[in-house]
Amino acid sequence: MEIRVFETKEQAAKQAFETIREGIEAGSVRTLGLATGSTPLMLYKEMREAKLDVSNITTVNLDEYAGMPADDPHSYHYYMEDELFSHLSFKQSFLPNGTALDLEEECQRYENILREHPVDIQVLGIGANGHIGFNEPGTSFDSETHVVDLTESTREANKRFFERETDVPVQALSMGIKSILSAKKIILLAFGSQKAEAVQQMVEGSVDINHPASVLQTHPNVLVFADEEAASLLK
Ligand code: F6R
Repeated sequence: MEIRVFETKEQAAKQAFETIREGIEAGSVRTLGLATGSTPLMLYKEMREAKLDVSNITTVNLDEYAGMPADDPHSYHYYMEDELFSHLSFKQSFLPNGTALDLEEECQRYENILREHPVDIQVLGIGANGHIGFNEPGTSFDSETHVVDLTESTREANKRFFERETDVPVQALSMGIKSILSAKKIILLAFGSQKAEAVQQMVEGSVDINHPASVLQTHPNVLVFADEEAASLLK
């Protein structure tokens, strides 16, 4: 795991963008794994502004809320469309379908998509509780795409995007930890002091299912781009 600390999150996002751009231009990145939330917003801004040629690039997203239609502004489909897909013409883009009638079947379908499109670079954020994707503490390291019961702390953290806390979905579909680890390279972005403990656990803690991001210590090619606040507890 390589840790790079930047004075600001803008600088960190720029560097993450450069790594992705180089991979795309060199032809070594054909499938890009994407995340939602606040963390990748600046990275997506960089991608939009650079008008990257992504016509050969497939994208796969980490997760989607269960029961959330793609045209609902709270859905991750909507977020991706708004931030990236309506600005850049990717070859094809996949997200789990939160409105599938049979969610277990949908997870299997999504896992098959991931097998057909092995991820070259996976972009990750990190939850304050150490989650990656929506893999909450306690999730098996062998997990593939699965239905997740969101923890109270994750629902609390995500309520800022909703009018009322009761509107925050209780379940999501998420790539599993094994699915995430199958990416050739992982870029994890972490910004702000509220992520400092999670970053410390991920980098310096023991590898433990109660801290999902710690599993990244076992992956051979992980870059962590953090701002000073998120890195403030590192030795
Ligand atoms: C998003 C995702 C989550 C977020 C994490 C951090 O697709 O899978 O793991 O990366 O919850 O969220 P933000 O960036 O909003 O702090």
